[in-house]
Order: sequence, then C-alpha cells, then structure tokens
Amino acid sequence: MNTETNTLATAAPTTTTTATTTAATPGPGAAASIATAADTAGASSAAERGLFDTDARLGALTLPNRLVMAPMTRNRAAADGVPQAIMAKYYAQRASAGLIIAEAATPSAVGITYPNIPAIHAPEHVVGWRRVTDAVREAGGRMFLQIQHGGRIGHPDNSGHMPVAPSPVALPDTMFTPAGHQPSVVPREMTVDEIRSTVADFAAAARNAVEAGFAGVEVHAANGYLLHQFLAQNTNLRTDEYGGAVANRIRFVTEVVRAVADEIGAERVGVRIAPGLTVNGIEEGDTEEIYPALIAALSEIGPTYLHVVFADPDKPLFHDIRRRWSGTLVANPFLAWGEPLPADGGKAQAERLLAAGADFIALGRSFLANPDLVDRLRTGAPLNQVRDRHLMYVGGETGYTDYPTLAESRAA
Ligand SMILES: Cc1cc2nc3c(=O)[nH]c(=O)nc-3n(C[C@H](O)[C@H](O)[C@H](O)COP(=O)(O)O)c2cc1C
Repeated sequence: MNTETNTLATAAPTTTTTATTTAATPGPGAAASIATAADTAGASSAAERGLFDTDARLGALTLPNRLVMAPMTRNRAAADGVPQAIMAKYYAQRASAGLIIAEAATPSAVGITYPNIPAIHAPEHVVGWRRVTDAVREAGGRMFLQIQHGGRIGHPDNSGHMPVAPSPVALPDTMFTPAGHQPSVVPREMTVDEIRSTVADFAAAARNAVEAGFAGVEVHAANGYLLHQFLAQNTNLRTDEYGGAVANRIRFVTEVVRAVADEIGAERVGVRIAPGLTVNGIEEGDTEEIYPALIAALSEIGPTYLHVVFADPDKPLFHDIRRRWSGTLVANPFLAWGEPLPADGGKAQAERLLAAGADFIALGRSFLANPDLVDRLRTGAPLNQVRDRHLMYVGGETGYTDYPTLAESRAA
C-alpha cells in the first residue's frame, strides 16, 4: 500500500507547489502598511546570530541552538490517537534540536486527517504524550506540540465523522484511508456554534498539551488545513462574519490563537502560516491583503513566535513578513522538495535566512533522517539522506527510529 503520493500532496507541500506568492508584488494597501510597519529588531541584530548560539530566547525558554525540528506527521500513533512508545524513542533521539515541534495532533475527533495521527483531546492522549515529553526532557530537549484540525482534509473512514469546513468545497484530490485512496468527500459547512466550539477545542487541547509536559503549542494555520481553509477565498465561500472580507476571513484564526493564548499564556503559543502556498488545493486569492491583516491581528495577541513555511530570503515575501512581524520569527527554508536534500541539509539556506532576520530555522526532512543533525551541521559531517520514503507516513521502527547517528555509522 503506497501512501506517499497522497500524503505528500496533503500532509506537506508538493513538488508542484511554489513558494512564490502575489505578496511578492504587494498591492496598494499592503504597500501603505509596509511603510508604517514597525521596525524589526530582528533584522537589525541579524548579523550577531549564529545557528549554534547557545542562549537564544524563545518565550520563556532558552534554547541551546537556533535549529528547530519542524512538525512532521509520521502516523505512528495508535488508531485512537494515543502516542506510542516508539514515538518517545524517535523524539528523544532528536532532543539536541533547539526546539522540537511535535507533529500535528488533532484537538477533536472530527479534526482527524489521516489514519494513525496523534490526538490531544482526551486523558489517554495526555498520558501518551507525557511519555514522549518525559523521554525528550530526560534526553535534554524541549518540545512544543502542533495542533491541527484537518477541516476538509479528512474522511469518514478515518475519523468516523463527516469532515467539516468553512464551506462545502471538497479537496480536489483523493484522501488516504485504511482502505487505500478514496475520493474526497464534500465537507459539511460549519455552523457558527461549531466554529465557537472548535475554538474552545483548540484551547482545551492547548491546556492538555501543557498538562502532557509540552512547553507550548503551535497553532497550525498553514498547508491547507482548517485554519488555512478559513483564510483562503477558494475554500471559504461564507457570507457571514467568518467569510468574505479579509477582516472576516482572518476572524477564525485570530479567535483560535486568542483563545489558546488566554488558556495557556501567549508566551507558550506559536502560529504556523504558509502565505501563498497552494498545497492541498488552497488558492488564497488575495495573499497580499490577508497576511498583513492577519499579522497585525496576531501582533495584538502576541504569540511567542510566527513560523513561516517555505521561507525564501530571495523573495520579497519573506522580507515583507519580517518587517511586519516584530516578534520572534521561525523560518522553514525552501529546500528541494520531492528531490534529495541539499548535501548540507539546508545549512547555507538557514544561515542566509538568519542573516535576513529570521530568529530560528526549522528543518524537517534533515531532522527526520539525522537524529544528531545539530552536531552534524556544527561539524560539517556528512548527512544521512531520507530513505524508505514510502515509510514516511506509515510503518513502525523502519524509516523512523533506525536512522543512525554519525557515531553509530562509524561503529558499524
Ligand atoms: C513526513 C512529513 C510530514 C509532515 N507533516 C507536517 C505536519 O504535521 N505539520 C506541518 O505543519 N508540516 C508538516 N510537514 C511539512 C514540514 O514541517 C516542512 O515544512 C517541510 O518538510 C519542508 O521542510 P524541509 O525541506 O526541511 O523538509 C511534513 C513534512 C514531511 C516530510
């Protein structure tokens, strides 16, 4: 059973996705707000930053380096969403990351995307995650948990529920289910009551995450899942206060982030965005309008970081975001997608992003394949390439916890 095609197209950006956006040529409104945007402390002190700084602050945390393990869905949880012992081992192996952002966990049964993703809405999920955070802490690491509601990226065979979304617009792709690939279903439009209860679910999930030992949570507003579906014009056709004008389409994301911040404190909250990314059938339509408004609204709430997917220091978009967001910025570089990783694992691009004003660098596949990535990058040692690609989103130990450290490779 090969899940790769489906999940690459859904859990993460595809090869056909580009990071270029219309924000590269901001409209008149955007240009005006660029001119009035607050100066960024980030850009001015960029020259002093290095990937291996040992005292970088992130909210209440002091991180031992500026490398963040990006959230990566690996589908190793039990069918009921309880994290398994194998996940504790995997994350503990990668505890030398400055920060680990654990894979997307659902705040409700209806928010389930794919089979075997973890959850964070019931006591047994808290117990399961506690095993993971304990293992990582004992190994010297720190973790946030990403919270993700799939919205239309779901299937009744995966969740037992008809997916819900801002509007009844189906994903233009198949969905992976335990029975294989199936046509996507048309999601049911959320009522305003359901929107409110989903906001509350995110807050409760964040509380659970803190109880499970996470230092904080990342609200997933990227990659075409529910929050992104509210932002985008092609998935949000609503005519009420959650649809239409930019101020309405950012309302749900803003309410979620505010509720989570109220619940656990803004210093424990990050937000992941993917401006202009067309993954999972998303067409924002007015990227250059929506993100300035969203960043302004988030700035009032003050989450501890903003995390940008496929950040590219050669694109005006990155510099625009840096100018608008005066808080901590985590940048996930745009590396070769669907191709072998660069031989340096993304280090050169990471350093260019730091120089352009990013505060932390999130890497995904390099951490997946290299449990000791930080040491390898620090010393310039060769990297493991990703192998067993078909096991990225399914399976057990193979392709998961069996990537060797440099010392293990040398001893073998
Ligand atoms: C196996 C896999 C699973 C992923 N799952 C998630 C996820 O749960 N949440 C998310 O925001 N991004 C997810 N992504 C995207 C990564 O966080 C990251 O943005 C992407 O891999 C690009 O970074 P890289 O080039 O360093 O790998 C996933 C990527 C991969 C390879």
